[in-house]
Amino acid sequence: MSNKSFSNISIAVIRRLPKYHRYLKELLDKEVSRISSRELSKLIGFTASQIRQDLNCFGGFGQQGYGYNVDELYNEIGRILGLNKNYNVIIIGAGNLGQAIANYTNFERLGFEVLALFDINPKLIGVKIRDIPVLDMDELDEFTSEHNIDIAIICAPKDFAQEVTDKLNRKNVKGIWNFAPTDLNVAEGIIVENVNLSESLLTLSYLLNEKELLSG
Ligand code: NAI
Repeated sequence: MSNKSFSNISIAVIRRLPKYHRYLKELLDKEVSRISSRELSKLIGFTASQIRQDLNCFGGFGQQGYGYNVDELYNEIGRILGLNKNYNVIIIGAGNLGQAIANYTNFERLGFEVLALFDINPKLIGVKIRDIPVLDMDELDEFTSEHNIDIAIICAPKDFAQEVTDKLNRKNVKGIWNFAPTDLNVAEGIIVENVNLSESLLTLSYLLNEKELLSG
């Protein structure tokens, strides 16, 4: 199974994998060694048949009557998600969000190491967030030439996000995790994943209001 390519798997399945990964880690921490799709369903909230279908996409990890080997499943899903590697990360914009991400040590545990933050504000340049330096945007070229950067996280204001992206387009950055609320034009080959907390909040707001409307 280890050298298989999973490029034909639907993005909907891929987006469910982190949740499986997280719950399997919790099971491992509790020293649970095997679990059925039904038990996993109660825990995660997906139906047992959805779970079987999802995991069958990868050749199936379970055995009839035995369930899933938690350790094996956790490691395989981790590998499918690319967590068997380490990633060099930089953060552009060392304000509230940039600093919060740099302070979140859990990403490191998953293999995403923040090497530096970049900013244009002289008050921030030279500061350290944990042990991670905030560098001047003018140093970006030199830094990206000296370090192999896999991921750039954009935490700069919306109006500067494209300007920052244009600079990254000329580097060997492979992926952009974009928090700025705008769509970015990227060079061919760069993968962008947008994150928007507001969209999630507005969905919650809709659901709250829908519930109120339904209850009269
Ligand atoms: P902030 O104002 O605290 O930080 C922005 C930082 O970017 C500042 O330190 C500023 O000096 C720096 N900056 C400005 N122009 C720059 C440039 N050209 N190059 C490099 N750095 C530059 O803002 P905050 O709250 O940290 O938000 C940052 C971004 O993240 C904004 O675009 C905001 O809309 C977005 N955001 C997105 C969220 C989401 O769910 N996607 C949630 C919160 C913020």
